[in-house]
Amino acid sequence: MTDFKRKVIYQIYPKSFKDSDGDGFGDLRGVTEKLDYLQDLGVDDLWLTPFFLSPQNDNGYDVADYRRIDPKFGTMADLEELIAEGGKRGLGLMLDMVFNHTSTSHEWFRRAMAGDEKYQKYYFFVDGEGGQVPTNWQSKFGGSAWEYVPSLRKWYLHLFDVTQADLNWENPEVREELKDIIRFWKDKGIKGFRFDVVNLISKPDIWEDDAEGDGRRFYSDGPRIHEYLQELMRDTGGEEMITVGEMSSTTLEHCIRYSNPEEKELLMCFNFHHLKIDYNNGQKWELMEPNLTALKQLFVEWQIGMQEGNGWNALFWCNHDQPRIVSRLGNEEAYWYESATMLATVIHLMRGTPYIFQGEEIGMTNPHYTSVSQYRDIESINYYEILLAQGKSKAETLEILAARSRDNGRTPMQWDDTAYAGFSETEPWIEIPDNYKMINTAAQQYEERSIFAYYKQLIRLRKDNPLVADGDIAFMEEDNPHILAYQRSLGEERWFVWNNLTGDQETVRLPRGCEHHRIILGNYESADINQEKCEITLRPYEALVLSE
Ligand code: GLC
Repeated sequence: MTDFKRKVIYQIYPKSFKDSDGDGFGDLRGVTEKLDYLQDLGVDDLWLTPFFLSPQNDNGYDVADYRRIDPKFGTMADLEELIAEGGKRGLGLMLDMVFNHTSTSHEWFRRAMAGDEKYQKYYFFVDGEGGQVPTNWQSKFGGSAWEYVPSLRKWYLHLFDVTQADLNWENPEVREELKDIIRFWKDKGIKGFRFDVVNLISKPDIWEDDAEGDGRRFYSDGPRIHEYLQELMRDTGGEEMITVGEMSSTTLEHCIRYSNPEEKELLMCFNFHHLKIDYNNGQKWELMEPNLTALKQLFVEWQIGMQEGNGWNALFWCNHDQPRIVSRLGNEEAYWYESATMLATVIHLMRGTPYIFQGEEIGMTNPHYTSVSQYRDIESINYYEILLAQGKSKAETLEILAARSRDNGRTPMQWDDTAYAGFSETEPWIEIPDNYKMINTAAQQYEERSIFAYYKQLIRLRKDNPLVADGDIAFMEEDNPHILAYQRSLGEERWFVWNNLTGDQETVRLPRGCEHHRIILGNYESADINQEKCEITLRPYEALVLSE
């Protein structure tokens, strides 16, 4: 796999993409219906979040059978059609492998619960000392990470929901089972995989309390993680696949190893540090204004660090776990177009492979829900109770959910201004934001000045200019917290990328070598450049790309 640097990957959350059979729930045939749209956008591969058999307690991240398709999403024939139709349009399919845990409805877990020792060893069933919980670790969705099973007199580990039991990768049989699943999907014509929270799969040898935190320091980038990834790739023909790992609370050093080609692990990694810059004290459920200085520092650290270590970043702002970026770092009212396009520029022209999450390319916003009954996500519903129990008022709790809930990214794709936004003929499983009449693909796809058209241009730039994929990166304006600016260079060619992260006007210096510039891209009609003074004035949320 050599061309992954030139690719742009599009993430589909099938449940909310397009409903083809009128049950209010998106499905695989809905994705097939929209392939022409995706081809027009110009993306290369489609990553689909899980549609495997699942009780859907965590929207499919609780897998009950990795080889079967949940009937809610369609059939194997529907998937085969999607693979074939995608192939005709040059769109490869990537599946989401949730290998840190299975659903407790998975046959392996059910057998374990029925007393089968072979399958108990697939998970972590642990005796607590004196009947006590084995460690004080916390589940990522709130509460203890251990659940007691009276019939077995043991506790099992679940870093996520109680219905998502962690798999024991120490057991070679588990590793073989998981390799078989990869081979099964590769044989069907699947081109790549996104590995869910994959840096959590290696647990420590001893169970101990975490006196400093929730336990994550013991299992994030755990002791045998690199060995496991190397083995998985070696035994499944990893070099032929496009692979990306979702890395939770990871470090730069580990991500270099995960993605440096010499290590033969993955092609690239997602990390989330840049999406915690509005977490107060690192706490997701405590609101804070975004710290733009921290954001810049993180980009510098990860871009330069991965370049020096020959690693590769998966670049992204949005996914099914994150609020919409235009609502978060942009201004969805006064500068909706400008801030959405500026934020796209930041990501797409850095060193790495960009990911677009469905609806991002038309500037979809958070839905601004005002009642807990509008939420569907297990984490949001759990935290609603937790925050109230902590003494927060209902109004404050709802304000926090509206900013932080994962449902912000899960509302149905807005296709047009008809009822239910053209997503479905019936009321969808989750409410559509009121702004769908204005923000939808029909209003943008064929417009010259639209967020969609701008994303298309960014994708084209990557295809037409090797510098975007292969060039080096160096940062400019490092002391100015409002401007995120960098240079890209390849051979004799050099580009300068400026992004005004704020709604205020800012003046920056035109760098040497840029006097006889050419405008490559911008989100305003023209650039405000003063040649005599060697200055550029950047208007609110302006993005400007010049070449030498
Ligand atoms: C990842 C997924 C998220 C899921 C979790 C547990 O973070 O993106 O949606 O809840 O893993 O599988």
